[in-house]
Amino acid sequence: MKRIVLTGVSRGLGRAMTEGFIAAGHTVFGCARSPQPLDELRERHGAPHRFEVVDVSREEQVRAWAEAILAQHGPPDLLVNSAAIINPNARLWEVPVEEFSAVIDVNVKGVFHCIRHFVPGMVRRKKGVIVNFSSYWGRSAAAEVAPYCATKYAIEGLTAALAEELPAGMAAVPLNPGIIDTEMLRSCFGEAAGSYLKADAWAKTAVPYILSLGTKDNGQPRTVPGQ
Ligand SMILES: NC(=O)c1ccc[n+]([C@@H]2O[C@H](COP(=O)([O-])OP(=O)(O)OC[C@H]3O[C@@H](n4cnc5c(N)ncnc54)[C@H](OP(=O)(O)O)[C@@H]3O)[C@@H](O)[C@H]2O)c1
Repeated sequence: MKRIVLTGVSRGLGRAMTEGFIAAGHTVFGCARSPQPLDELRERHGAPHRFEVVDVSREEQVRAWAEAILAQHGPPDLLVNSAAIINPNARLWEVPVEEFSAVIDVNVKGVFHCIRHFVPGMVRRKKGVIVNFSSYWGRSAAAEVAPYCATKYAIEGLTAALAEELPAGMAAVPLNPGIIDTEMLRSCFGEAAGSYLKADAWAKTAVPYILSLGTKDNGQPRTVPGQ
């Protein structure tokens, strides 16, 4: 049984992973910003699972969340940084300054905040895996999503560097989930997103694959099989 810290559980891939991890017998400590889906998750999955309102871009919120979880449950076996946002489609020079900053704050700084507060305890135990969600757009580019691409390339570099720092027995892995029909995909693909795999179907392969990641994968860019 693994203790799993997972960001972005209110919908999309994070929500589907939550259900998959719990169905497989693991404990999930999840967060997102929207209170209502978290209430629903709490009702559906009581203790020891925990679902809390946390904005990962706010370091003080991540610190308080991590302190509470670490005090009660100890360091996680698996930290999955899935929470992210995408800029509304626009050419880079037309992206409002605040929108560009928001994408960086959530997708890059949010991941850093979770690493900063959850990883020290994992390092002390010399045990645990950190999976940072990347994208095809962290390995190749497309028009009108340049801020998002910039953050996912950043995640690839950040994770590769982190992998060099971890003690033997741990792993940090940049993971491309593939292309899945979620709100995020609808934002950039519109109705065409409907022809892609749904999150629940994706999770059937992704959840066991993520649980299988370990030291053999440290620093290696991975993609969910079949994607
Ligand atoms: N769907 C795809 O095809 C695809 C492809 C490549 C990569 N990805 C990556 O996969 C991950 C999940 O994407 P998705 O498609 O499931 O997106 P999604 O449906 O838009 O869900 C994003 C999740 O992140 C949470 N979130 C956003 N900002 C947050 C913040 N500041 N603090 C805490 N939680 C926050 C959202 O909840 P709240 O709004 O309630 O906070 C939501 O639960 C992302 O890293 C994304 O870049 C997805």
